[in-house]
Amino acid sequence: MSALRGKVCVVTGAGSGIGRALAHALVARGARAVAISDVVEPNLERVAGELRGRGAEIHAARLDVADRAAVAAYARDVAAHFGVVHQLYNNAGVAGGSRTTLDADYEDYERVLAINLWGVVHGTLEFLPHLVASGDGHLINVSSLNGYLAQPQLGSYCTAKFAVRGFTETVRSEMLRDRKPVRVTVVHPGGVRTDIATNALRHGTEREGREPTAAEQARAKLYNEKLLKLPADDAARIVLDGVEKNRPRVRVGSDAKAVDLLVRLLPAQAPRLAALLDRRLVR
Ligand SMILES: NC(=O)c1ccc[n+]([C@@H]2O[C@H](COP(=O)([O-])OP(=O)(O)OC[C@H]3O[C@@H](n4cnc5c(N)ncnc54)[C@H](O)[C@@H]3O)[C@@H](O)[C@H]2O)c1
Repeated sequence: MSALRGKVCVVTGAGSGIGRALAHALVARGARAVAISDVVEPNLERVAGELRGRGAEIHAARLDVADRAAVAAYARDVAAHFGVVHQLYNNAGVAGGSRTTLDADYEDYERVLAINLWGVVHGTLEFLPHLVASGDGHLINVSSLNGYLAQPQLGSYCTAKFAVRGFTETVRSEMLRDRKPVRVTVVHPGGVRTDIATNALRHGTEREGREPTAAEQARAKLYNEKLLKLPADDAARIVLDGVEKNRPRVRVGSDAKAVDLLVRLLPAQAPRLAALLDRRLVR
C-alpha cells in the first residue's frame, strides 16, 4: 500500500508542468486530500477540474508564493480546512532571464529569488509547524540540477536553486537532531518537458516590451527540443517514489544523475565544463 494513502498534501505551482503531474500522481496513489495553488488561475481551475471526482478532496486557491502574508494566510486556511497537513511540495518556480552577469538587471534577480527561494522559505516556515503537528510529516522542496551545477546565463536561477538545497538540508538536519516527525527531501530535476523555458522567454520580452532576439529564441529552442525531455508524469513518479522511500535527495532523470556524478568527481572543473558545453550547444 502506498505510504501516501490517506495523506493531506499541498502542492504549489500546480497549474502546469511538474506541479500538475504531482497533484495527479498524489490523487492516483490515494492521498486523502490535495491542496493545489498557482498564480495563474485559469490553469489552476483546469487542473482542479481534472482532479475532482477521483477520490481525493481537492482544495484550489490562487497563491503567489512570493507573497509572505498570502502564504501565511493560505497555510492557516488549509490547516483549518483539513484539520491536518502531512506533506508540502514547494514546487512553484520560474526560469530566470538569460542574460550574462555583465548584462544582468536587478529586477530579474529579485523576481527569481522571490519566487524560487523566498517562495520555498515562506512555504516551509508557514507549514512546518503543521507538518510537525501531523506526527507524520514530509517536506519536499524542489531545487534543480542547477542546485549543484552552475551554468552561464543562469545566475539568478542557480543562486536560488543552490540556496534551496542548503535551506532544505538545514531543515532536515534540525528535524533529525530534534527528533521531529518530519521527513525532508530536496528534489533535483534534470530537464523535464514543461513550459518553463517558453514562459521565461515570454515573461522577459513582455516585461521589456520587445520581440525575442534570435539568440534568445535559439536558447529556448535548444531547451525545449534537446534538454527538457523527461515527461512531467515520469518526473512526478520519480519524486513520489523517493518520498515513499524517504529519500533525502531525489535526482530526477539520467541527466540529473550524470551531472551530479560529474560535479562530485570534478568540483573545481565543473564551471569550465559547463562553459565548454554551453558554447558547443548554443553556438
Ligand atoms: N522543467 C524542468 O526541466 C525543471 C528542471 C529543474 C527544476 N525545475 C523546477 O521544477 C519546478 C516546476 O517547474 P516546471 O518545469 O513544472 O515549470 P512550469 O512553468 O510548467 O510550472 C511552474 C508553475 O509555477 C507557477 N508559478 C510561477 N510563479 C509562481 C508564483 N509566484 N506563485 C505560485 N505559482 C507560481 C506557474 O504559474 C506554473 O504553473 C520549478 O521549481 C522549477 O524550477 C524544473
